[in-house]
Amino acid sequence: GTPANAAPGKLGFSPIPVSEADRILVPEGYQVQTLIPWGEPITGTYPSYDLSNSGQDQGMQIGQHHDGMHFFPIEGESPYLGSSQDGLLVLNHEYIEPRFLHTAAVGLTLNAGDVPMNADGTRDADQVLKEINAHGISIVRIRQQETGTWEVVRDSHNRRITGLTPMEFTGPVRGSEFLKTRYSPEGTGTRGTLNNCAHGVTPWNTYLFCEENWARYFRNGDPEASLPREQTRYGVSREMSRYGWERAQGQGDDYVRFDVSRLGNSPQEDYRNEVNGFGWVVEVDPFNPNDTPKKRTALGRFAHEGVVFQPAVPGQPVVCYSGDDARFEYIYKYVSADSYDPATASGELLNRGRLYVARFHEDGGGEWLPLVFGEGPLTPENGFSSQADVLVNTRTAADVLGATKMDRPEWGAIDPETGAVYFTLTNNTRRTEDQVDAANPRAENTWGHIIRWREGGDGPTATQFEWDVFVLAGPEMDSETLKGEPLEETNIFACPDGLWFDGHRRLWIQTDISESVMNQGEHAQFGNNQMLAADPDTGEIRRFLTGPIGQEITGVVSTPDQRTLFINVQHPGATTSAEAFAAGSVVSRWPDHSPNLYPRSATVVITKIDGGVIGT
Ligand code: FEO
Ligand code: CA
Ligand code: CA
Ligand code: CA
Repeated sequence: GTPANAAPGKLGFSPIPVSEADRILVPEGYQVQTLIPWGEPITGTYPSYDLSNSGQDQGMQIGQHHDGMHFFPIEGESPYLGSSQDGLLVLNHEYIEPRFLHTAAVGLTLNAGDVPMNADGTRDADQVLKEINAHGISIVRIRQQETGTWEVVRDSHNRRITGLTPMEFTGPVRGSEFLKTRYSPEGTGTRGTLNNCAHGVTPWNTYLFCEENWARYFRNGDPEASLPREQTRYGVSREMSRYGWERAQGQGDDYVRFDVSRLGNSPQEDYRNEVNGFGWVVEVDPFNPNDTPKKRTALGRFAHEGVVFQPAVPGQPVVCYSGDDARFEYIYKYVSADSYDPATASGELLNRGRLYVARFHEDGGGEWLPLVFGEGPLTPENGFSSQADVLVNTRTAADVLGATKMDRPEWGAIDPETGAVYFTLTNNTRRTEDQVDAANPRAENTWGHIIRWREGGDGPTATQFEWDVFVLAGPEMDSETLKGEPLEETNIFACPDGLWFDGHRRLWIQTDISESVMNQGEHAQFGNNQMLAADPDTGEIRRFLTGPIGQEITGVVSTPDQRTLFINVQHPGATTSAEAFAAGSVVSRWPDHSPNLYPRSATVVITKIDGGVIGT
């Protein structure tokens, strides 16, 4: 039944229990459809999905490991801002699981994260091409049929952007020494984007994709003492890179570039600077299939989770926020130098502005510290030579400023009515008792929390703010809601990651308990990863959805009428070993449930059976 204290219409559904089932579960009155699983053909010659698809085929199909996502309505004869039956779905593909990407034989011999290698330590070139093409972004037109079902439209907007797509740099780092490579001697361009986690949507209706855990896609074999801080502060590998792409034979610079060792006498002769071309927020116009993606360097270089904008106000600067998702990293804010004009606004607003980093005070106040060359300690005496240097080394600059080290900042969301900014801090088991502070209040933070703040009296551009903790996630004995109550069976959750406000101010919370601990020990009580909805005023939280085995729930957006909700299921089956598949034990086969197919990431479409607004 519906608790008496529910705000009418805000959380109108009955919460569902935790689950370990290999399926999507939603409240009574709702239905789900899966759409665009990995491998679905969307462009080019539309090659049908098959485990034997080539690297080239993959470049015309939906990528693996769906993550951040937005629905761009295509305006028609609709009473809404845009159509709620027709639009471009744009989504990120964060990373890959090689064992499920290649032929069936590969999957049965490998575990999660393993890479198929040749006997001589090289990598098969077409497997590498398939892996690179399974990363990046998909842009796909979808339309709701008369039956209510959503379908892919074979349309000229459809596009794959991958780890090979040519991109341009803009902003203060463009043309600097940091970006000069054999591919781009002038330091103005690069190929591809990698590990795109969450996303952003600009006030001028373009899509931003954010580069998160890109550092380990590169390796550097130079002597340890000679590695620059642009690499060491971010964790570039000294041995084989994450997938060993630099080991693909005979493929030239496209793959060699993942080895950033010094080979020549100048940056233009080798790829020592290739890794400086990653760690950025990248913009693309989904409505222009020929648009060259732009890496917006003014927003800083770190493990960008996503970007979230304050509502744009004509005559005022544009303001957005981005979290750096690693243990003890920071939350940043960007304020454009130029004012927003709806008639002329463009990505230029992301090329000139001030980047700030957050310091949370113990008393509930906070301040934004500017990352501006020549201001405060960011001077030559402290090792900074230019604004490009500050931005390429954003983490180091934030260290020098004394920003607050957070428990892995993931997604942000902004209350459309109050402008309050919410951020998930997913967990940080390495925080010790002596490292606890008011904003990161638990040592060995296994369960994560959600923090929020209101900007000072000047509004979004203020340099002061006031913050509080919205919820401490975790088991009943170690959790606390806004009302000071523990979480209980209708809403216990851990490791918040995805976060989104719908148009009625419901705060949707998605969880990402790591596959290494999911369904084990104390984590078992949370079941499979899930999605909940919260009332930002009362702090009430209810469980809305549970996902299949081994996945995380991510990516969330609705149509303008809020009658269709899209979410992503990423890495189903990540907890299943090769032996379990071979033995036919409890495994994920979601969403196909075929003994001949591995689990696949996919988008899930949620509607109310009565056609109503989701969440009411
Ligand atoms: Fe890719 Fe921070 O999750
Ligand atoms: Ca995430
Ligand atoms: Ca994850
Ligand atoms: Ca995560």
